[in-house]
Amino acid sequence: MAMKGKRILIVGSGGREHALAWALARSPEVETVYVAPGNAGTRWPARSDRASAVPVPIPAEDIKGLIAFARERAIDLTVVGPEAPLALGMVDAFRAAGLRIFGPTQAAARLESSKAFAKELMRRCGIPTADFAVFHDLDAARSYVRRHSSPLVVKASGLAGGKGTFVCETVQEAEEALRLLIEERVFGEAGETVVIEERLEGRELSLLALTDGQTVRPLLPARDHKRLRDGDQGPNTGGMGAYAPVPDISGEEIEAMARIILQPAVEALARQGAPFTGVLYAGLMLTAHGPFVLEFNARLGDPEAQAILPLLESDLLEALEACLDRRLEEAPLRWRSGSCVTVVLAVPGYPGPVPKGIPIFGLEEAEAMEDVWVFHAGTADANGQVVNAGGRVLAVSAWGADLAAAAGRAYAAVSRIHFEGMHFRCDIGRARPFR
Ligand SMILES: Nc1ncnc2c1ncn2[C@@H]1O[C@H](COP(=O)(O)OP(=O)(O)O)[C@@H](O)[C@H]1O
Ligand SMILES: [Mg+2]
Repeated sequence: MAMKGKRILIVGSGGREHALAWALARSPEVETVYVAPGNAGTRWPARSDRASAVPVPIPAEDIKGLIAFARERAIDLTVVGPEAPLALGMVDAFRAAGLRIFGPTQAAARLESSKAFAKELMRRCGIPTADFAVFHDLDAARSYVRRHSSPLVVKASGLAGGKGTFVCETVQEAEEALRLLIEERVFGEAGETVVIEERLEGRELSLLALTDGQTVRPLLPARDHKRLRDGDQGPNTGGMGAYAPVPDISGEEIEAMARIILQPAVEALARQGAPFTGVLYAGLMLTAHGPFVLEFNARLGDPEAQAILPLLESDLLEALEACLDRRLEEAPLRWRSGSCVTVVLAVPGYPGPVPKGIPIFGLEEAEAMEDVWVFHAGTADANGQVVNAGGRVLAVSAWGADLAAAAGRAYAAVSRIHFEGMHFRCDIGRARPFR
């Protein structure tokens, strides 16, 4: 038995961070998992099989405050959940302070924080991605759009919280997107540079991998559901559900994608003197001409993490430590057989502005089910009553022997939870919508 006693700090407050806290608290080496700022789900007492979790009231982007906390509590390892602190250089600052932290540096995280940077890197390395051009100037971008008759996608190059992509049907739509980004500056600096790319067709796949800057170890492939409503209708959201693994992809195909997509990107960054340590996430489109990269992310996906982490049988802490010590090649990475389905429960109005303080009921009834995990996203504790604090409230994950069984169990758990205006998709991991 390894010695208990490690203190972990997780940065972030969503379902992904709750799932990370849950997974790390299972490690025999961990004593306490702090989550900054966390949510109503990231507080629990220690048990014989699980370390305790404690929320910490420090915002995820307060780098100085988090460094002070990590020093004060002698944190052994910090794990960064969301992209914003990575882009702000949190990993660089922690390292400079002599603190151990899992995640890419600011320079490596450009793979996510600058789509223009990522596209140019892919072009240089021959990584399959849609044809593209980069613009800063409205007139030049407009005339490019007018010269193209094929459908285009217009993207803010910088971080836009998953809202900076416009999949356009017509030249007019593309021109309007350009106007919003460059003239109206709806995403500020993030839209000063735009990427215009060819529109691809196919099913999407999230391929996430651990990397120590050299070795790449793919996690189970996942599929997320970005649209608000069943059958991929309605506006884009942060993600309404996910499942893993993806049955239409073989292990050989995953290995091939890691070889032609993830490995060359990791090698290119290392050559540039910006080695990437952390989770590298490729958002892929499976086209008739093979997999194409839509974008890279520099961290775990949300809600993909909530579908992938419950399937990890081996110790997550050991894998993260192996990345930091550049010995990922030797780290055990074992997966439970079967599938995991994650259903996100949202409040009315999401993805727009939402009411707050709606009481949530039935959490204990859902959590009491075997092989069910209720990960909190936008929740807060109001004198012992869990209430919503954001649009995506919960991510309900369930294991099953296959996708259908996992979906059945996830929806059975969802049916035990209720709150005013509760909205969720009914087709996650299911061939057909079903209520
Ligand atoms: N070249 C493309 N062709 C077709 N659809 C695309 C293309 N690029 C992006 N999309 C669609 O837009 C979504 C968001 O784009 P993505 O590049 O992942 O940016 P972000 O997640 O930062 O908004 C994708 O999940 C995909 O559905
Ligand atoms: Mg995306």
